[in-house]
Amino acid sequence: MKLITVRGGKKLYGKVDVSGMKNSALPIIFSTILAKDKCIIENVPNVSDISLSFDILRLLGAKVTYYQTTGVAVIDTAPLDKNFATYDIVSKMRGSTYLIGALLARFGSSHVGWPGGCDFGSRPIDQHIKGFEMLGAKVSFKEGYIDAVAPSGLVGGSVYFDMPSVGATVNVMITASLAKGETIIDNAAREPHIVDLANFLNMCGADITGAGTSTIKIRGVEALHGCTYAIVPDMIEAGTYMVAAGAVGGEVTVNRIIPKHMETVTAKLTEAGVDVEVRDTEIVVRSDGSFRGVSLRTLPYPGFPTDMQPQFGAFMCLAEGVSNITEGIFDSRFRYLEEIKKMGGVSEVVKNKAIITGQSKLVGTKVHSTDLRAGAALLIAAMAAEGETEISGVELIERGYFDIVGKLRSLGADVELIEV
Ligand code: EPU
Repeated sequence: MKLITVRGGKKLYGKVDVSGMKNSALPIIFSTILAKDKCIIENVPNVSDISLSFDILRLLGAKVTYYQTTGVAVIDTAPLDKNFATYDIVSKMRGSTYLIGALLARFGSSHVGWPGGCDFGSRPIDQHIKGFEMLGAKVSFKEGYIDAVAPSGLVGGSVYFDMPSVGATVNVMITASLAKGETIIDNAAREPHIVDLANFLNMCGADITGAGTSTIKIRGVEALHGCTYAIVPDMIEAGTYMVAAGAVGGEVTVNRIIPKHMETVTAKLTEAGVDVEVRDTEIVVRSDGSFRGVSLRTLPYPGFPTDMQPQFGAFMCLAEGVSNITEGIFDSRFRYLEEIKKMGGVSEVVKNKAIITGQSKLVGTKVHSTDLRAGAALLIAAMAAEGETEISGVELIERGYFDIVGKLRSLGADVELIEV
């Protein structure tokens, strides 16, 4: 088992390079299935969800080489010859839902185990299914598997999503790229990873317009081909280091980012009284460790990202005054606050709202990371706490943060990864 130990109280100074975005890399890696060709993907983050996606592609017959030092993946999906993926492997992450759309587009049918992912309460896939059915597929569920078949081929159509789901938007974009005719997605997700996927598919020969707006138009093409493409920087990883610098204090330059993607995090930190300087491809955060509480509500992009909510929750435990969080995306994403309570944090959760009383004196203890971003929140709390904190559930943190311990150590944090 892995543990992270943190001795709090060290301010953070220096520059940190941000990796490629995990939630962009996953749809792009799975959509290489459509290309039946060699794709060279750059800036691929070296995190465990990505290695898992490579393992899945290899099991399906693809050739994948990942160069860890450069972050380049060479994926050849020409030899890929299976349209099924077993439950034991796909249930390990949410991104494997994209296999349903990609295999359906390539083979006309797919048989994929029910996807897993972080546990934030119920995470239905009804919008994905609605999208596949609109394209002419028949979808059924049997013994933990999702079967999708398009006996007469996939044909474009119009779909309106009840909420701007990232996953459903990705799946319909992938599937519709090889369908006959035109598909229109209304109330589409607008996240930077949606734009990244559209750019990648277009480089492979797809015809997608409107990504980044609520209406996406996909004109189906006969076939796609390989290309070379670089993944955008991870806005959630960047935001995590920005909030860490604000909460713990010091001066940190968060480098290799797209500042436009960071606007909500920048705005909330500034509102809290933290000094944030935005440059071309980096942001500098300066903090003396004293700042005000703020209120926020998570919303689909360009609203405040749910994936930054836990890190801000930890920040608020240290802020002056009372802060409020409304979680607008998931049913249950406050379990990290129970862990911070063990360190002395004061908060109350009622349904999807949290009220956090700040200026808590946090003291290190044993805590458990219940999901990926919860782990990031605990690291922030631990670096600001007095004494030593031991964080378990490290494997969940490693799903989405490349070398978070090494990066924090390079900023001066007293953090260690240990195997017990
Ligand atoms: N929803 C439905 N039906 C659907 C799909 C979604 O009701 O068919 C609901 C969900 O239950 C949720 C909301 O719609 O309440 C939004 O879910 P969405 O589909 O946008 O989320 P996702 O695709 O499952 C991705 C990221 C998450 C991130 C969310 C929201 C990946 C692999 N996962 O999940 O990332 O929180 O979008 O931005 O891209 C993380 O990286 O820590 C993470 C959890």
